[in-house]
Amino acid sequence: MSTQTVDPNRIQRPGGAAPTGQGSGVGAPAATRATLSEASRKAFDREIAKYPPEGKASAVIACLAILQKEHGYITQASEELVAEALGMPPIAVHEVTTFYNMFNQVPVGRVKLNVCTNLPCQLRGGQHALEHLCGSLGIAEGGTSADGAFTVQKSECLGACADAPVLLVNDLQMVSFMSDARLDELVSSLRAQSGANPA
Ligand code: FES
Repeated sequence: MSTQTVDPNRIQRPGGAAPTGQGSGVGAPAATRATLSEASRKAFDREIAKYPPEGKASAVIACLAILQKEHGYITQASEELVAEALGMPPIAVHEVTTFYNMFNQVPVGRVKLNVCTNLPCQLRGGQHALEHLCGSLGIAEGGTSADGAFTVQKSECLGACADAPVLLVNDLQMVSFMSDARLDELVSSLRAQSGANPA
């Protein structure tokens, strides 16, 4: 049986961008990711202190969330900072980034909408809801509207199959039974809240 060694510096990130080195995440300004900001360092320390030293890797999600909040998405350099702080291989941090929908690997709009397209939702209009949303915003799945207001993505099961079709707003708010009318209403309401121009 052959084995393959994964070089963390060769991680392929979304969008087809070439892997980048320390301090230069995909599409990120060159000087923004090489070191932790003071605020992030303090926040890391608070999270790491919740675990015994031998279990500090358990803070990986919290640390990634801190950097995403600061930068808007997770770069390779951010993963390397988390890996260094937690004593983990960068590839292990990358596995966490890529497992959870809530972590953005590329810049996203001010509002991120994740429409569930797993089977139970598919049987009750999940794909239609995704297509209606993309159509009304004029974007393809995974894309961001021209004004930077909305990103629409597919999602795995959100645990609310009986309420299908469902979607998640900004990784926090679940909305259910999303008919075309309710989707349109949601977009209008989010546009008003985010200050975006009406479509
Ligand atoms: S399949 Fe959509 S919430 Fe479970």
